Amino acid sequence: LNTLILHGTESGNAEMAADDLADFLSDTEWAATVTSMSDVDVSDLARTDRVVIITSTYGDGGLPDTAVPFQESLTAQNPDLSAVTFCAFGLGDSTYETYNNAVSVLAGDLIRRGATQIGSTGLHDANSGSDPSRSVVTWAEALFASE
Ligand SMILES: Cc1cc2nc3c(=O)[nH]c(=O)nc-3n(C[C@H](O)[C@H](O)[C@H](O)COP(=O)(O)O)c2cc1C
Repeated sequence: LNTLILHGTESGNAEMAADDLADFLSDTEWAATVTSMSDVDVSDLARTDRVVIITSTYGDGGLPDTAVPFQESLTAQNPDLSAVTFCAFGLGDSTYETYNNAVSVLAGDLIRRGATQIGSTGLHDANSGSDPSRSVVTWAEALFASE
């Protein structure tokens, strides 16, 4: 089984969290590759068993720059993702009304095309002052313990 961690970011926090999650998973059966959402070929996604999406939120609840082409390709190619299972983790800031909106939007885009989400969406709140890398690993530990 192959696992792909896809990050969408503007200032690098989601990418850092993705790399740290990959380190955490490296000794497990979920050993993963990390790719930017702007570099993934959506037709390859349909052939990936397990995907982890990690994205921040920008603007008024919008996607970060590197996630925009990913969403555009999903819309354009409308792939059948029924063979794909995924987990989702968002980075946001609870001082915004649109707290962590982007990860729900992208998870919805995958689910609408048949993908199955495992576990609940993890959320990091920049306003909490906690470290995104630590949050993502804590989330993953809880998720795998319940699997
Ligand atoms: C200009 C700007 C707009 C933002 N807009 C939102 C928002 O609408 N909702 C939210 O939850 N977080 C928002 N954030 C917070 C970011 O998502 C958060 O800082 C995140 O850790 C950034 O991750 P990144 O470095 O991967 O892009 C915003 C941050 C900035 C700088």
